[in-house]
Amino acid sequence: IEAALAAGPLAGRRVLVTSGPTHEPIDPVRYIANRSSGAQGTALAAALRDLGAQVIFVTGPASVPPPSGVQVIKVETARQMLEAVEAALPADAAVMAAAVADWRVANAAGSKMKKDGTGRAPGLEFAENPDILATVSRHPSARPGLVVGFAAETDEVIAHATAKRLRKGCDWIVANDVRPDTGIMGGSSNAVTIISADGQESWPMMGKDEVARRLADRIAGALDGA
Ligand code: CTP
Ligand code: CA
Repeated sequence: IEAALAAGPLAGRRVLVTSGPTHEPIDPVRYIANRSSGAQGTALAAALRDLGAQVIFVTGPASVPPPSGVQVIKVETARQMLEAVEAALPADAAVMAAAVADWRVANAAGSKMKKDGTGRAPGLEFAENPDILATVSRHPSARPGLVVGFAAETDEVIAHATAKRLRKGCDWIVANDVRPDTGIMGGSSNAVTIISADGQESWPMMGKDEVARRLADRIAGALDGA
C-alpha cells in the first residue's frame, strides 16, 4: 500500500510490453527482419514505468536500447517471443507493440549456405509464425484484463485495423499508417488512431514519447478500479 501511494496510478500493476522486430534465421549468419526500430514500444514501456507499473519488456533485436527500470527479456524470433510472453503471464495488461515477423524460414539451414557455383539461388520456404497477440487475447486461463495491439497498415488503415481488432480478440488496437512517406516507421513521430469496442479516436501527429504517455494514461484509466 505504501508503494502504491508513492508510485503513481499503475503502482502494483504488472504490464507486459512487446517491442521491436523479430529476426527469423535463414542460416547461422543470415536472417529476415523488418524496419521496426522498437522506438514506440520502448517509449511505451518507459511511460508505463513512470506511472508506477511493474513492466515486463519482451523485446526483439531493436535499434534503440531498452528503458531502465523495467524487466528486459531479449528474444530473436517470433516463437521465442511467444514463449517469453506466455511465461510472463499473468499480467494486468498487455501491450503488443512488436513488429512480429509473419513468416519464418521453414527450411533454415544449420550451417552457412554456400553458393553452389551454378548461379542458381537457393529457394526459401516459409511457414507462418504464431500470433502472439491473438494467443494472449484468447488465453484460456491468464488473459490480461486489458489487451492492446498495434496495427501498422499502408492502405485502408481504419478498416483493416478495425477488422484486426475483432479477428485477434484484443480490447484496443492502436492503428498507424506506415506508408514510407509518413516517416513513422523508424522515425520519432507517430499519428495513431485508437480503436476499441466503443469507437475510434484519432490523435494528431506527435512524438512517439507523447503517444506513449497518452496511451499509458489511458491504460491507467482503464485499469483504474478494475
Ligand atoms: N502480432 C503478434 N504476432 C504475430 C503478428 C502480429 O503478436 N505473429 C501483433 C503485433 O504485435 C501487433 C498486432 O499483432 O500488435 C498486429 O500486427 P500486424 O502485423 O499489423 O497484424 P497481422 O495480423 O500480422 O496482419 P498483416 O497481415 O496485416 O501483417
Ligand atoms: Ca504482420
